[in-house]
Amino acid sequence: MNVLDSELVVGALRNEGYELTDDIKQADTVLFNTCSVREHAEHKIYSQLGRMKFSKRYRPNQVIGVMGCMAQKDQKKIFERAPHVDIVVGTGQLGEIPELVDQARSNRRRSLAVSLGRRDGSRNQVAQSFESYDPLRDPEMRPSPFQAYVRIMIGCDKFCTYCVVPTTRGPEQSRPPSHIASEVRTLAGQGVKEVTLLGQTVNSYKHTEDGQLYRLSELLELIHDTDGIERIKFVTNYPRDMTVDLLEAVRDLKKVSRYLHVPAQSGCNEMLKAMKRGYTVEEYREMMERINSIVPRAAVSSDFIVGFCGETDEAFEKSMDLIRECRFKNSFIFKYSARPGTKADDMMPDDIPEDVKRERNNRMLDLQNMISEEDNAEFIGEQVEVLVEGPSKQAIKSGEADGDALKTQLVGRTDCDRIVVFEGNPRLAGSLTNVEVHDCTATTLIGSIVTREVQHGSGELLPILS
Ligand code: 5AD
Ligand code: SF4
Repeated sequence: MNVLDSELVVGALRNEGYELTDDIKQADTVLFNTCSVREHAEHKIYSQLGRMKFSKRYRPNQVIGVMGCMAQKDQKKIFERAPHVDIVVGTGQLGEIPELVDQARSNRRRSLAVSLGRRDGSRNQVAQSFESYDPLRDPEMRPSPFQAYVRIMIGCDKFCTYCVVPTTRGPEQSRPPSHIASEVRTLAGQGVKEVTLLGQTVNSYKHTEDGQLYRLSELLELIHDTDGIERIKFVTNYPRDMTVDLLEAVRDLKKVSRYLHVPAQSGCNEMLKAMKRGYTVEEYREMMERINSIVPRAAVSSDFIVGFCGETDEAFEKSMDLIRECRFKNSFIFKYSARPGTKADDMMPDDIPEDVKRERNNRMLDLQNMISEEDNAEFIGEQVEVLVEGPSKQAIKSGEADGDALKTQLVGRTDCDRIVVFEGNPRLAGSLTNVEVHDCTATTLIGSIVTREVQHGSGELLPILS
């Protein structure tokens, strides 16, 4: 969500005549897009801001801004800790940034643009103060010309006790299906092949338009036949909303990726209850069975929090058991970080020592990596269809992908979101290509392009080297 926000804000500023620079010393405007999910992310921003303390001495016209979740959460506190900041803009006011930057430069007054707190008005008032920010796209700003994020909802109403998101991104609000469909058509017209639908709990999507209720399954159907779109993904899912209609849509709509990110957070019922996740581990298991029976060979990934308040060794082992049982494609593992303003921070002591959190984190990572590598090894000898993204990071770093190289290391993803690297012509970027897998690591399949054969006019078969 933050990557998309940055892309859209930079696009809006470019429309106003701004240009991007790689050199912060050259910048007239410096904007920090921020995350509040864990304390560490906030520390990084405050320390970056600290480094800019004297920056205006050399560029008196410089405007420094903080946008996103931390802006919504800390508000005026940011000016107190970093008096050289000019604008603080929450997640619901991103559309105002070009104007706020201009004003800050012309009148040198600070401005704070944030939404209401969750208890500062009726649900409607609070919801209205958070506006979904989805302006027309600037195709040049996309990280890849073939892939794009599309926001389908904002906010969250689940209020897991550890999580700051319902405060920083406000009430759950779904965008109208017609707006989403039109954005997808525009993107396809710009050459996008893969869209990833975004929402904090994307499968809780619900919107009534012209008397028809659209859930995520109906929305997927609505956009599925958009010309030019080859793949559709959606993140992040909430386990309780992983309904049969959605899984059937994933099974039946061939452009929809067989990849489901459904965070479990813990494998222990006491922890799930303390986290207020709204399901038991038995219900999570039932959901996994549902996934496996309706969408065979779907890749499922998860998030886990280790060292949550009161997590005993036994509770932690139950999370390890769930990983062994579900064999997730991958898991994002986080050490619990107490967040001010959340119920867990108010009511429960953060009582697991840092070294225990670290040790659990490492053990869980080792287990998950072992499973990921074992499951990736099953692909060795198989052919997978890959949407080619372009030269791999390694190829770009080594300069190998520069110029008119005919072959370089390319990277792409399978239908089940597995990363694949292989040699090929950079012009293949954006195409679907078959790759035969001959090796793997825990995170990557390694292979080579399968030579295609096409029927020539004379009926003779000509091999084509991709
Ligand atoms: N501490 C640690 N991890 C957290 N997450 C959310 N809040 C916290 C927190 N306070 C993790 C959850 C979520 C992911 C995006 O971040 O696992 O799914
Ligand atoms: Fe946070 Fe829970 Fe909402 Fe996810 S579902 S964003 S963890 S409150």
